[in-house]
Amino acid sequence: MTVGIFDSGLGGLTVLDAVSRRLPEMTFIYLGDNAHAPYGVRDADDVYCLTKSHVQKLWDMGCDLVVLACNTASAAALRRMQEDGVPKGKRVLGVFVPLIEALTERTWGDNSPPREVGVKNVALFATPATVSSRAFQRELAFRAIGVDVEAQACGGVVDAIEEGDMILAEALVRSHVEALKRKMPHPQAAVLGCTHYPLLQEAFQAALGPDVQVFSQADLVAESLADYLDRHPQMTGADLPARFLTTGDPKRVSDRAMQFLRRKIAFEAA
Ligand code: DGL
Repeated sequence: MTVGIFDSGLGGLTVLDAVSRRLPEMTFIYLGDNAHAPYGVRDADDVYCLTKSHVQKLWDMGCDLVVLACNTASAAALRRMQEDGVPKGKRVLGVFVPLIEALTERTWGDNSPPREVGVKNVALFATPATVSSRAFQRELAFRAIGVDVEAQACGGVVDAIEEGDMILAEALVRSHVEALKRKMPHPQAAVLGCTHYPLLQEAFQAALGPDVQVFSQADLVAESLADYLDRHPQMTGADLPARFLTTGDPKRVSDRAMQFLRRKIAFEAA
């Protein structure tokens, strides 16, 4: 029973960590497109083409289900891939919907009309490509009314994390939070809409203050995947050994991965 997990680089490891804890009986094949990261500064067509070819690779390896553990790919490519039509017996899922369901107090499959929800002011922190796609606002509008979203494109943060420069990453978080607060002084909730950002959750929380509820994706995606596989047991795929694949330099990527998983893992060339 093997599910494919795709990200532009290392951020998807935050999702992999959570789904492996939630579904210990499953194996996962992780593919990071480190050679082309960050995706967040690429245009939508580029992200779509890169994502599509890597998801195809995971399908070809025997994964029936692939999770885009990347908001940028989910925002720029998921809907288009689903509209193009996926091969028979294959599926691709993104990471947006579980987060928005949590924010709008919905359970899976609740397709009732949009309604008022508890939160009114939401700060979204994401990559420039995710912010410009407005995919978050679109998905939110299907489910909630009266929610004001202020988005902050967090330029530079993913590069700093991928380079292992956490001091720079934290300084960038503080300046992006300040910029957000100039536009929305009192957000009630903040969404970390990039799978790299859980590594900086404390920095976001400290800069936002204790009154802001910070939503991070990994555990929400893990719960949602467990629920999906319960409802679609045919999507668990062939029994394959767990693997970590990268389009980048396997040694360098393996060294960087330590900070995400706090254990040693060996990436292989994709
Ligand atoms: N971790 C990814 C995301 O969730 C992408 C970051 C990037 O490649 O810019 O958006």
